[in-house]
Amino acid sequence: MPGSLVHAVSIGRVKLRSNLALAPMAGITNAAFRILAAEGGAGLVVTEMVSADSLKYGNKKSFKMLELLPGEHPAAIQLFGADPSSMALAAQAAERAGADIVDINAGCPVKKVRRSGAGAELMLKPMLLADIISRTVSSVKIPVTVKFRVGLVAGENLGPMLARVCEQAGAAAITLHGRPASQFHTGPVDLAAMAIAAAAVKIPVFGNGGVENAAGARAILEAGCAGVAVGRAAVFNPAIFAEIAAGLSGEKAEPVTSSVRMRLFLRFLVLNAGIYGEEHGLARARKLVGYWLKGLPGAAGARGAFMSLKTLKEAEELLIQYTKE
Ligand SMILES: Cc1cc2nc3c(=O)[nH]c(=O)nc-3n(C[C@H](O)[C@H](O)[C@H](O)COP(=O)(O)O)c2cc1C
Repeated sequence: MPGSLVHAVSIGRVKLRSNLALAPMAGITNAAFRILAAEGGAGLVVTEMVSADSLKYGNKKSFKMLELLPGEHPAAIQLFGADPSSMALAAQAAERAGADIVDINAGCPVKKVRRSGAGAELMLKPMLLADIISRTVSSVKIPVTVKFRVGLVAGENLGPMLARVCEQAGAAAITLHGRPASQFHTGPVDLAAMAIAAAAVKIPVFGNGGVENAAGARAILEAGCAGVAVGRAAVFNPAIFAEIAAGLSGEKAEPVTSSVRMRLFLRFLVLNAGIYGEEHGLARARKLVGYWLKGLPGAAGARGAFMSLKTLKEAEELLIQYTKE
């Protein structure tokens, strides 16, 4: 729609159908979930963060996290690490795995990650961040993007400086989380800080944080961001991207019903089984089932029962009650 806030956007030479992206979430944005998000209207999906050091040492689980499925493209693989040469090698592994984009994590607030010098710690070391970006850019043909935060503590605005560092080092786009690292994933986002960072560079800046509907996305886009990345609101509703796009285009956004969501969850379980095997796929879904069932009648009982399921047939028998209108 001409003039609509939702539109196609390019990251380097990668064309995204829309400027609404799935934010990377460890433990959540696996390939099964990313397919649902792509089908639900996300213009770009991103893997969970993968450790560059673990890839360097041949860790099988980390290599498994690089696996992409045909239905999820365009897809970015997110890497974390503090050593430029390990990051460059890991980016090559991501490219070989079929990633359309490599994303560098420079915003993770988790202690263990920061202690290793990676994640949000890189916001304190712009020279090292620039080195990681430029070494990564020169080691792959695909575009390299960076995700970071407005600051480390409340009120700090490192955004414009870091955005320029990323751009000059060759990054093709940025995802800017509007909360400081000290706040992890809660509290207000600093829209004004995001607007200044977005205006400081020519590359697209995707604003991120707290978006749950079209109004939230609109605020970020009107602040000057080229796109929006949605995290937690997609966790139990990966169709939220189409809902937001409709709202931004002035169409009446039909909220996704709980029965549609439960059918999506069943499809997620089938996709998960394809990746990890039936029993292991169900076990991995245990920590997510509570989000999906939240607010539904008898949710606590169904959640408890889900913990001991071994087959997809059992899962369907348990959840079918929620798929009827
Ligand atoms: C469970 C969880 C895991 C996350 N894992 C990552 C990650 O691997 N890499 C990353 O850059 N951000 C990660 N994040 C941050 C999200 O990408 C996003 O920036 C944050 O949730 C704010 O967006 P939201 O308010 O839309 O959820 C994670 C967030 C959550 C809640």
